[in-house]
This record gives sequence, C-alpha cells and structure tokens, in this order.
Amino acid sequence: MVLVIAFVLGLQYFELTPISIVSPRNGTVSQFRETNNITKSAENQTSLAYQEPSSGFEPRNSSTTEVLKSLEHKFLNDSPKSEPSEQSRGNDTANSLHSLQPKIPQRKKNHERSTKKSPLVVVSISQMNNMILKRHSDPNNSLAPRWGSKVDKELKTARNKIKNSELVKKDDTLYAPLYHNLSIFKRSYELMEQTLKVYVYSEGDRPIFHQPEAIMDGMYASEGWFMKLMESSQKLLTKDPTKAHLFYLAFSSRILQQKLYVRDSHRRINLVKHLRNYIDLIVSKYPFWNRTRGSDHFFTACHDWAPAETRGPYVNCIRSLCNADVGVDFVVGKDVSLPTTRISSLQNPNGNIGGNRPSKRTILAFFAGKLHGHVRRILLKQWSSSSEPDMKILNRIDHKTYVRFMKRSRFCVCAKGYEVNSPRVVESVLYGCVPVIISDNFVPPFLEVLDWESFAVFVPEKEIPNLRKILISIPVRRYVKMQKRVLKVQKHFMWHDGEPVRYDIFHMILHSVWYNRVFQTF
Ligand SMILES: *[C@@H]1O[C@H](CO)[C@@H](O)[C@H](O)[C@H]1NC(C)=O
Ligand SMILES: *[C@@H]1O[C@H](CO)[C@@H](O)[C@H](O)[C@H]1NC(C)=O
Ligand SMILES: *[C@@H]1O[C@H](CO)[C@@H](O)[C@H](O)[C@H]1NC(C)=O
Ligand SMILES: *[C@@H]1O[C@H](CO)[C@@H](O)[C@H](O)[C@H]1NC(C)=O
Ligand SMILES: *[C@@H]1O[C@H](CO)[C@@H](O)[C@H](O)[C@H]1NC(C)=O
Ligand SMILES: *[C@@H]1O[C@H](CO)[C@@H](O)[C@H](O)[C@H]1NC(C)=O
Ligand SMILES: *[C@@H]1O[C@H](CO)[C@@H](O)[C@H](O)[C@H]1NC(C)=O
Ligand SMILES: *[C@@H]1O[C@H](CO)[C@@H](O)[C@H](O)[C@H]1NC(C)=O
Repeated sequence: MVLVIAFVLGLQYFELTPISIVSPRNGTVSQFRETNNITKSAENQTSLAYQEPSSGFEPRNSSTTEVLKSLEHKFLNDSPKSEPSEQSRGNDTANSLHSLQPKIPQRKKNHERSTKKSPLVVVSISQMNNMILKRHSDPNNSLAPRWGSKVDKELKTARNKIKNSELVKKDDTLYAPLYHNLSIFKRSYELMEQTLKVYVYSEGDRPIFHQPEAIMDGMYASEGWFMKLMESSQKLLTKDPTKAHLFYLAFSSRILQQKLYVRDSHRRINLVKHLRNYIDLIVSKYPFWNRTRGSDHFFTACHDWAPAETRGPYVNCIRSLCNADVGVDFVVGKDVSLPTTRISSLQNPNGNIGGNRPSKRTILAFFAGKLHGHVRRILLKQWSSSSEPDMKILNRIDHKTYVRFMKRSRFCVCAKGYEVNSPRVVESVLYGCVPVIISDNFVPPFLEVLDWESFAVFVPEKEIPNLRKILISIPVRRYVKMQKRVLKVQKHFMWHDGEPVRYDIFHMILHSVWYNRVFQTF
C-alpha cells in the first residue's frame, strides 16, 4: 500500500525530472552555453567557474585560486551576520540544481537505456522536501491512535509550539543557512530535550538485540553507535512505558545477517521471520503496539537488506535506514535516513577530521571506490581516464590516500554503490569537501531540517557525462559559501563516545525520529 503510494507519487514527478543544470548566479537556469566556452576556462587545473560576461565579481585576470583566497577571507573569517539573510538566501537556493525544473521530453525508450538498473522515476530533493511538508500537514497520512493517552496531548502541544515558534534569525551555535527554518529546528530540538521519553523493550536475545558492542565499527556502525548511546541514556529513557513518546526496538540488522543468513542461500526468509517473531511477542505482551499500530515504534538499521526485512508488520514504524531509497519504499516524512558512517577506530570515530582551505583544494572532483553497481561503472568509464587533470575519479585506493584526496578536493563525488547510500557523504562533510551526490532517489540524512542543497550538489545519474561541466559552472562565490556551510554542518555528523553532545549525530538521528513523530500527530 505504501509502496503503491510512493510509486504513484513518483510517477507524477516523472515529467519534472530536471535536465538543465547550469545555474548562473542570477538565479535563472539555462542550458549549457557553449559561447561561454566552458572548455576554455577548464584549461587551467584550478578553474572552477566559467566567466560570465557581465560578472562583476571576479577580477577577469585573476586565477580561481586567488579569487578563492579573497573569498575565503571574506566568508570564512566573517561573523555570521555577513552571511546572507534568509531572504537573500532564497536566491541561493534557487540556484541549486533541482529547484527550477523545466519540463523535459520523456526519456528515450528501452533500447536507449543502457543502465537497466536506473530507477524509472527520479524524485528530486526539492520534491522530497515538498513530500515531507505534505505528509506533515495531512492528517490522512497518519494513523489515529486506537485509544488516547497523555503522550498524545504532549505531542500535540509540542507540535503547536513548534509551528508557532518565535522567529530566530541567528543563533550562536546553529548556522542559519544550513536549515530550512532555523526557528523551527531550534524549537523542535529544545522541546525534544524537554519532553522526549523513550522506552526500550527488554525483550530480544543477544547478540542480535541489545548488543551494540558487536557492531561499533565498519560500514554499518551507525546502528551500533546509536544503540549504545540510546540504551545508556539516563536522560532520555523511561522505565514507565505509559510515559513514552517513542518505543525503541534495539536490534542490529548487520548482526541479524551475520548470525542467520545462510551463505549463498539467496534467501532471507529466516531473517524476516526472526524479526516477525519479535514483533509478535511485543504485540501480545504489551498494549502499546496495538494502540498506535506501531507508528510510535522505531529502530535504526544500516544493513542493505534492512528495508526489505522490515516490511510487513514493521511498515508503520519510523524506520531509520541507511539504505534510504524513496524509489523503493522509504516514506519521507515518516521514515528517517540514517547516516552511513564508516568507523575504523573506536577511539576516534570521526576520523582525522579536517582538510584544506578552498584555495588549497586543487582537485576539482574526487572519487575512489570499488566498482559496485552500474552508476560507478558509468562514472569510471566516463571519467577515470579523462584527460582533465582536475578530475580524480579512481578505482579503489588505500585509505590514507583516499583521505588525503578528500582533504585536497573541492568536490567529493558520493556515487551510489549497490544501494543508494554511501559513507562518502559523511566523509566529505568531515573532510570539508562539498559532497556531490550521484544517487537517484537517495534521501539524505536529516532532510527534515537541513537544507541539503545549500551545501551539497545533487547530480542525476544520467548527467554523469556532464559532471565536470556542472561542477565548473558553479560560481566560485557560491562554492566558497557551500564549503563554509559544510564546515558548519560537521557537528551534526560527529559521534561522541560516552556522553553524547548537543546537536551531534546521535541527537540529530533521534531528532528526526522525534520530528516525524510530532508532525504525524494530529
Ligand atoms: C540572468 O542572466 C541571463 C544571462 O546571463 C540573462 O539572459 C537573464 O536575463 C538574467 N536574468 C535575470 C533575472 O537577471
Ligand atoms: C573555445 O575556446 C577554444 C580555445 O580558445 C576555441 O578553439 C573554441 O573554438 C572555443 N569554442 C567556442 C564554442 O567558442
Ligand atoms: C591559464 O593560466 C595561465 C597562467 O597560469 C594563463 O596564462 C592562461 O591565460 C590561463 N588560461 C585560461 C583559459 O584561463
Ligand atoms: C590584474 O590583477 C592585478 C593584481 O592581481 C591588478 O593589479 C591589475 O590591475 C589587474 N588587471 C586588470 C586589467 O584588472
Ligand atoms: C533574487 O533574484 C531575483 C531575480 O532572479 C531578484 O529580483 C531578487 O531581487 C533577488 N533577491 C535578492 C534578495 O537578491
Ligand atoms: C482526508 O480524507 C478525507 C476523507 O477521505 C477527505 O475529505 C479530505 O479531503 C482528505 N484531506 C486531505 C488533506 O487530503
Ligand atoms: C520559520 O518558521 C516560523 C514559524 O513557523 C515562521 O514564522 C517563519 O516565517 C519561518 N521562516 C522562514 C524563513 O520560512
Ligand atoms: C493486540 O492486537 C492483537 C490482534 O489485534 C491481539 O492478538 C493482541 O492480543 C493484542 N495485544 C494485547 C496486549 O492486547
């Protein structure tokens, strides 16, 4: 049912898929203009933007690096008040890839489609944003509880308070341009701190349940880190389930796969059964699931298979998934995109965060990774042997070199692998590299509150051949702003062992769950 809705919604968007990408700084989207001679400005490795005839901004005779330097000075050292106001930011946003979407002819028929696995419908980020707003304002999309409870009133009160939040134009700890609406995020976050109580069912056998220590490193670590911090939070947990606004199902999708999947069986029915038995137990033992049909229950799951494993009885839950694919059955506004964080050291979960200033980032675009999935095959085919020296699109390389490249690149390409998510998104942010997400229908983390298009570039899969044109057409001025925002958003993507920190990744995941819960309470 949800799948059908997603598909129907998707179909409506099909015709709107963007094709024109270049965004001159005055806010109009136009086709690539050969007259601007993009290839010419690309001669120099450091060129980033093509020169616009009427550009009053860049001295015509200075190299991009010099421009970057002067802008760095202007923007990076500035106090927040020199950042554009909400209003002028509107134009910035309008400059982003998906915001103006001319109608395009339908994609060519089957024989032209070399990439069989590309999704039929592509939902843009601004369309996702609209879908969230729509879901959060339409009572028909939410499940009315079967019987009332004190917590419903608390959630409704919180909802009203957030909607009527006092206007906050700037804040010492939150950088306004990062958010759809700073006032709303700030208020919602504070109300979460004041209000939210989470109940954790004690049922569930280890190690699949309640054993985060088993899954604290590697690609799927975010489910382990979340579980550890959630289960040890004195502040957020309640022992009284009647006081709980949310019920956490503490399992690891990765350990489920490790323990129960029979190698080469190509069957995961036993994994699905395991999770189903768990819910059967919870349903029969407690009244809480029945009250809301599971819509106040949530879990975090990072393994690729988690979306498929948690259909059926879990479908109403707030599913926090790394594999957040709106083209499959991820429901924006209900489900929550869980950041994929690749953790190699428990002592240093965020890696050696940092990177060069914009003027010291001499590589235009960087990617390295295994040839997982069709998108990377196309990407590497197109760009790995490109004659453009500023395009570093590589097969897998060692991790040290990988990090060094990320710290020296202006843009880091986050191309999907077998599934839509990639640890590169968070890595780019932590290494100060503007993420370029090539993964149709991927829902980026914290989309409920973050204005992703203000600090990341979204390139549709079919535009891979134009990747370089798209990147060099981003004006230097805009690049420097985006890079600054990447630095500002870092704190939302950092893990903290022991005691989590305000606004860190743990709290942001929980906030998205809270926010979707609050805004689906009518
Ligand atoms: C934006 O720039 C293009 C070309 O530089 C120009 O044709 C167009 O009129 C401009 N639009 C606005 C609103 O200034
Ligand atoms: C772009 O510049 C190159 C080198 O200056 C020139 O050969 C080419 O004709 C130009 N292309 C266009 C479309 O102006
Ligand atoms: C590239 O840089 C060189 C000097 O570094 C300069 O002479 C040349 O004009 C530049 N080319 C372009 C297209 O900007
Ligand atoms: C070129 O740049 C130099 C310094 O970078 C400046 O002194 C000079 O006036 C500039 N020339 C033009 C024509 O803008
Ligand atoms: C945004 O751009 C439009 C034209 O596209 C212009 O009329 C408007 O004044 C701009 N707003 C700001 C705040 O710069
Ligand atoms: C919700 O459903 C009712 C009855 O089906 C319908 O009348 C109403 O228009 C719907 N509301 C929205 C916002 O679609
Ligand atoms: C943010 O939300 C508040 C509260 O709903 C509203 O008053 C304000 O206009 C919004 N700001 C923007 C920029 O949308
Ligand atoms: C919840 O509902 C199911 C089926 O509707 C029922 O079998 C179960 O006993 C109920 N749970 C409780 C605790 O009443």
